Amino acid sequence: MKTIALIVAGGSGTRFGASQPKQFLLLSGKPLLMRTINVFEQALKGYENEIVVVLPLAQQQLWRDLCDRFQFEVPHRVVTGGVSRWQSVKNGINAIANAKDADLIAVHDGVRPLVTPQLIRQTLAAATEWGSAVPVVPINDSMRCIEGDTSTIVDRSTLRAVQTPQVFKASDLVAAYQNPYNPSFTDDASVWESDGQRVHLVEGEITNLKITRPIDLQLAEIILRDA
Ligand code: C5P
Repeated sequence: MKTIALIVAGGSGTRFGASQPKQFLLLSGKPLLMRTINVFEQALKGYENEIVVVLPLAQQQLWRDLCDRFQFEVPHRVVTGGVSRWQSVKNGINAIANAKDADLIAVHDGVRPLVTPQLIRQTLAAATEWGSAVPVVPINDSMRCIEGDTSTIVDRSTLRAVQTPQVFKASDLVAAYQNPYNPSFTDDASVWESDGQRVHLVEGEITNLKITRPIDLQLAEIILRDA
């Protein structure tokens, strides 16, 4: 079974506010994108696989320098990102010869370094059975919907926060990414669904943080230290 891991780190990371792109910030002494790739390498042992990493063109020399400095030797291909996450994923798919002939494509946010091999294998297994697998976690906070200058409570029991890796049958994901861009595409499940496919949800992990703000990096350090 051939699996493609498409790890997207093509964003500029402006929300983080650091001078260094957030995917290169050190987590436990090593650029966090390296940790993300290491977890995939570990999870995909025994599968025929290819790891593709999407990065902005402007960061690719820095990435090569970091790989030398940290003696990072996991084989992977680097592809140039686009203006949106959707475009970055599409560039990744287009760069893989015969992507549609693989069995599964797992798309993962490079800035989720705490993903576990278990979650990756569970999503691969579920996507093999159901065609797709998208990890979600419940919402703990109360939620309100803002409309103009009023707001209304939303029933949080009907909501889930969506994570990655999102895994799909390769040929159908490649087809879904041929459709035109829509600004509502914030993840791959939304692209998949817009092509008439059903999204199969699986349980995610609350530790699978997306490193977006400085506090997320501090929390990630604590989670790793206590793991
Ligand atoms: O911005 P957002 O939180 O949706 O980013 C999620 C992931 O998508 C990040 O790993 C980010 O680097 C990636 N991304 C991308 N290309 C973009 C924007 C975001 O690969 N143009």
